[in-house]
Amino acid sequence: MAEQREKCVLAYSGGLDTSVCIKWLQEEKNLDIIAVVGEVGQEHDGLEAIRQKALRTGAIEALVVDMREEFANHYLNRALHANALYENQYPLLSALSRPLISKYLVDIAHEYGAKYIAHGCTGKGNDQVRFETSIMMLDPTIEIIAPVREWEFKTRPQEMEWAREHGVEVPTTEKAPYSIDDNVWGRAIECGVLEDPWAAPPTDIYTMTGHPEEAPDEPGFVEVTFEKGIPCAIDGVEKSYLDILYDMNAIAGKHGFGRLDLIENRLVGVKSRECYEVPGALSLITAHKALEALTLERDVQHYKLGIEQTWATQVYNGMWFAPLTDALNAFIEETQKHVSGTVRLKFYKGTCTVVGRKSEFSLYNKDLATYDEGDIFDHASAKGFINLFALAGKTWAENRRQAGQDIF
Ligand code: ARG
Repeated sequence: MAEQREKCVLAYSGGLDTSVCIKWLQEEKNLDIIAVVGEVGQEHDGLEAIRQKALRTGAIEALVVDMREEFANHYLNRALHANALYENQYPLLSALSRPLISKYLVDIAHEYGAKYIAHGCTGKGNDQVRFETSIMMLDPTIEIIAPVREWEFKTRPQEMEWAREHGVEVPTTEKAPYSIDDNVWGRAIECGVLEDPWAAPPTDIYTMTGHPEEAPDEPGFVEVTFEKGIPCAIDGVEKSYLDILYDMNAIAGKHGFGRLDLIENRLVGVKSRECYEVPGALSLITAHKALEALTLERDVQHYKLGIEQTWATQVYNGMWFAPLTDALNAFIEETQKHVSGTVRLKFYKGTCTVVGRKSEFSLYNKDLATYDEGDIFDHASAKGFINLFALAGKTWAENRRQAGQDIF
């Protein structure tokens, strides 16, 4: 009788690395592989083909799991509520998908009685951290294997040679030398010529966005309606958040909006050059911020800025399931109760501009703001207000002057 092998659930993409992982885990670790392909809105030529490839490569089981609705409604909703931009710039697309995928990997491991979970991340990036922190928090008894961190191949050709020797399908045309991760929130492109921070990104790295200079000569307008901080209609047509995301990616992408070229601080201490295209995510964050500006009380709006930064850093660092993130979520959730209304966006040659906003919860009061007829603002109160507002600073300045110090 054949010996019972332990099982390992592998996060599988269909690429060379994770394909080699299947064979390597079998041969080096004597494991049976259950390959899991998460559908999160990434570009692909058919997920069934990827599933078949996993089986051909030797997996005992291969599953395609459509995670998109959950991604939108439990992850990207929070990202939008938090206007989440790591270091004020990066919309966290990879960081957001890892805890979701991890959750499925753990569930599937339980279902199949697998003792191990494996991923194809390198030892240099953030994604390994995010997978592993998530898995450890969800089930600390599961053992994690990171083959790419362990195996002996130093270079891609060495890996390809091993693959050929072991019957793993190797791409015949060496694809563009980039490392890409994408989902409905956007697309990350790194490596190759991008490793030189002085080199401009080649235009062919982008697939979700057109070149801004070649964008339509006519501007495009979109009205996004929000209910409690989540998009619920586009140009008056009610749709799911996920469908609106797809629409926004198409519209903003067509007008060349949403390309980013950044130097980013990785958690592991390395600065890296990262290019992103995030047309839908960035235009929705722009619209959401505009609606918050209209509907959030000033002190809440100001305080939330700091919370947003901490939230983004938590998620970037793989702390999705950590209690601080939960506590921040509770605060952010509370702020969204009245972030309902409509924002009008204009797209034009790589730009996205807010050109209108309205809400039944608008705190904008024309009678208070106007410089015209009908002003109800109490001008007389301003004098006393400023006297008291300046008092502490005035007292300090007086004291410094007496000590001979210039105030400038
Ligand atoms: N730097 C980004 C992050 O850490 C993107 C990572 C993309 N991953 C990849 N395998 N290309 O979230």
